[in-house]
Amino acid sequence: MVRSVSLYICQSCGAQTRQFFGRCSSCGNWNSIVEEVVSSNKRGGGAPARSQPAGSTYSCRSMSMKSLGNKPITRYQTGYAEFDRVLGGGLVPGSLVLVGGDPGIGKSTLLLQSASAMAINQSVLYVSAEESAQQVQMRWQRLENYDADLRILAETNLELVLQELEAVKPSVAIIDSIQALNDENLSSAPGSVGQVRECSAALQRLAKTKEIALLIVGHVTKEGMLAGPKVLEHLVDAVLTFEGDRFASHRLLRAVKNRYGATYEIGVFEMQGHGLVEVRNPSELFLSGGYASGVSTIVACEGTRSLVVDMQALVSATSYASPRRTATGIGTNRLHQILAVLEKHMGIPLSRYDCYLAVAGGLEVEEPAADLGVAAAVVSSFRDLTLPAGTVLIGELGLGGQLRQVGQLSQRIQEALRLGFKRVVIPKGSGLVANDFVVDLDLMEAETVSEALILALGIESELD
Ligand code: TYD
Ligand code: MG
Repeated sequence: MVRSVSLYICQSCGAQTRQFFGRCSSCGNWNSIVEEVVSSNKRGGGAPARSQPAGSTYSCRSMSMKSLGNKPITRYQTGYAEFDRVLGGGLVPGSLVLVGGDPGIGKSTLLLQSASAMAINQSVLYVSAEESAQQVQMRWQRLENYDADLRILAETNLELVLQELEAVKPSVAIIDSIQALNDENLSSAPGSVGQVRECSAALQRLAKTKEIALLIVGHVTKEGMLAGPKVLEHLVDAVLTFEGDRFASHRLLRAVKNRYGATYEIGVFEMQGHGLVEVRNPSELFLSGGYASGVSTIVACEGTRSLVVDMQALVSATSYASPRRTATGIGTNRLHQILAVLEKHMGIPLSRYDCYLAVAGGLEVEEPAADLGVAAAVVSSFRDLTLPAGTVLIGELGLGGQLRQVGQLSQRIQEALRLGFKRVVIPKGSGLVANDFVVDLDLMEAETVSEALILALGIESELD
């Protein structure tokens, strides 16, 4: 019988110990020691015996790429177009997908819903390591399509889960969650780095050999990292994060790694009383719907999808020694940079004003194409001017106050037009003209930020 023993191995220098230490005594690194399970038949065996006797001829096993043909992979449809889109067109058989997110965000709901939808055409096993079968069933009965034949196993022991997977041989299996699984060969607690690593490696081996598509739920730590070592992210084929404001009902599913599709693709869902519902036209979610001073509209790109989003700024005289700057949805450093450019190149004394900025709908906008929109919201609030209805601003701000080109410009304008926006301010030199678009629009090109804001606000004079 193969007996398993565990060893503690430093992930940075490879040193082995029998005991856990916070600091590796060999290389001096902190928190690099991880418990690993070693089978006794592997230990002390030296180099594995070569299967080929010396002198015999070796026949190549590698093959020509062309000889593999171009048989298309049939993917399993998850029942939700938004989910399929993030996966790159559906779930690839034999792939390992990690779905991460904060507790309570809706990971179990999302996976239970798609498991039910997939169970109509495939055999699906839902392994719940966190809740009992009855608890999962209660949730399942709240969902719309709960008449599908979905199998459930409530189990935390890794060995038993693996045996069940081998016996049932489902096309798709869901593991909820990897942190709750327990490998009894390891002495560390479930959820620890060593446990997560061993459990996912064992699941991966089984998924690849038995062609089971595995969807694994992973929790996110307080620092916003997927709990468990980075190696977990390397091991899986796709890492999806499910995020959203707990106080708002919409949720974003985002691909941060995908071996079978594009990354940074997003899917939008809304949490309702009977589960998650997909949102096909998400731009409407991120528009505040009113025109007031301090509000501007931008078009952000997430993967291949464009989203029209409102920015809101509030600028008021400061009563502090150093003014307050708060940003939700964009980085504070980016806001500081935009404020500095406005102060230097437009002469607006923003260093004497507090500035609060928020992206509507709790969306995170990381791309620099939002810069011009942020600048417009700030100036609009500072001057108490309202941007004319139907205006969108697209452009990155250079430190010299110049506007820089952004990618996917034509696609962004199309999305704005689809939502009825007709006045579009873009950086000069894009090569686009209003006639390129079927709808009538006022396409305004600007070289600098002040030129862009004069055009956007529709005013004659200089702004300073
Ligand atoms: P859950 O999927 O358990 O989150 P996670 O697995 O990420 O921890 O559920 C999240 C929340 O969703 C929970 O607080 C209740 C709510 N919810 C609804 O609003 N409607 C529903 O139909 C369901 C099933 C859950
Ligand atoms: Mg859960």
